[in-house]
Amino acid sequence: MAVLLITNIKQLIGTCENPSLLQGKNLSKLPLIDDAFILVEDGIIVDYGAMYELELKVPHLPKNIIDANAAFVLPTWCDSHTHIVFAQTREEEFIYKLKGMSYAEIAAKGGGILNSANKLNDATEDELFNSAYKRITDVSKLGTGAIEIKSGYGLTVEGELKMLRVIKRLKEKCSIPIKATFLGAHTYPLAFKENHQGYIEQLINEMLPVIAKEKLADYIDCFCETGFFSVQEMETIVQAGIAVGLKPKLHVNQLNSIGGIPLAIKLNALSVDHLETMTDEDIVSLSHSGTIGTLLPTAAFFLRMPFQPARQLIDAGCAIALASDYNPGSSPSGNMNFVVALSCIQMKMLPQEAINAATINGAYAMEMENMLGSITIGKKANLIFTKPVPSLAYLPYSFGENLVDKVMINGSFI
Ligand code: NIG
Ligand code: FE
Repeated sequence: MAVLLITNIKQLIGTCENPSLLQGKNLSKLPLIDDAFILVEDGIIVDYGAMYELELKVPHLPKNIIDANAAFVLPTWCDSHTHIVFAQTREEEFIYKLKGMSYAEIAAKGGGILNSANKLNDATEDELFNSAYKRITDVSKLGTGAIEIKSGYGLTVEGELKMLRVIKRLKEKCSIPIKATFLGAHTYPLAFKENHQGYIEQLINEMLPVIAKEKLADYIDCFCETGFFSVQEMETIVQAGIAVGLKPKLHVNQLNSIGGIPLAIKLNALSVDHLETMTDEDIVSLSHSGTIGTLLPTAAFFLRMPFQPARQLIDAGCAIALASDYNPGSSPSGNMNFVVALSCIQMKMLPQEAINAATINGAYAMEMENMLGSITIGKKANLIFTKPVPSLAYLPYSFGENLVDKVMINGSFI
């Protein structure tokens, strides 16, 4: 039995015995303990408290003691929305955009998602695995301790299954927990541009049965957007996913509000993601639902879109999470520290709200709340140790500075 005691923590952030999904005002409630310790056994948090309680709570000190040197210690980021499996980066499109072309114009020219799909279909499973494994290692060092990954750059039966098999291998090989989402409905491939029904039949009759049989996905996603999948098309695809046991977790309201939110709520979606473009009705209906709104501010930042209306959503009582959307087209970064900083700087979230949205609510948005997202007895010891900082608010304030000193995954430093 490996027992590890961590002492001298300046502030232990996110301590909570009975965590729950944080909605509205509750999002700003971030419990913490000053001058704290934490006790870890076999990678699991078994106790924590203030240093003055140490003698009482841990009468027999273990051999293995680490002095945190007055670091702040937080639960690792729970990044509940990424597209981290891709074959190549797309900086050439970035230059087109700088020269004035829009996201939709680039997509219409065969760029965007279709460009990534061509490259992915040419790549081997090993190439995809190796590059994604490296990206996961890199974001882990920046504090990400759990991640969701989508398919959606295959858009053929072979390509989608290849991506999902890569994600399955990542689940087996990575030390952080991973959830897989089937996003075959990311865009219509060129071969089905004029035959939407044909592609939908392929998704439902050729992809979903294999995904279900080989247990390749946890969730079903669909990009519901003008020029991509209509509300009716999303309903057909998502119902077929639900029928084989996949919960919906959906891309809606990035560019337009076309009815994705009410349908997602009707379908009991775990989360609705993006939300750059929300009507007042969308916000009210989301606040009355059990669906989490996942905001992806780095995508809005990179595409120069209006930021998500985080304040309005929180003030209306919604449950919101923050995620990176790490992908080569709209958010070529998986740095959750920047996501948190940007949420404060551009969306006026309080540091406590942003941290909760990127930890406990992110854990809920991928159904990992029983193992991650807070400092709770019985949860995994996946922890961020900061460099010396004057206060918690300094983390988002001093954006762009890497303030993560060390990251612990399953009780071991990586
Ligand atoms: O979440 N919006 C749809 N999909 C991705 C971007 C995909 C791409 O451009 O490669 C997103 O932003
Ligand atoms: Fe996305």
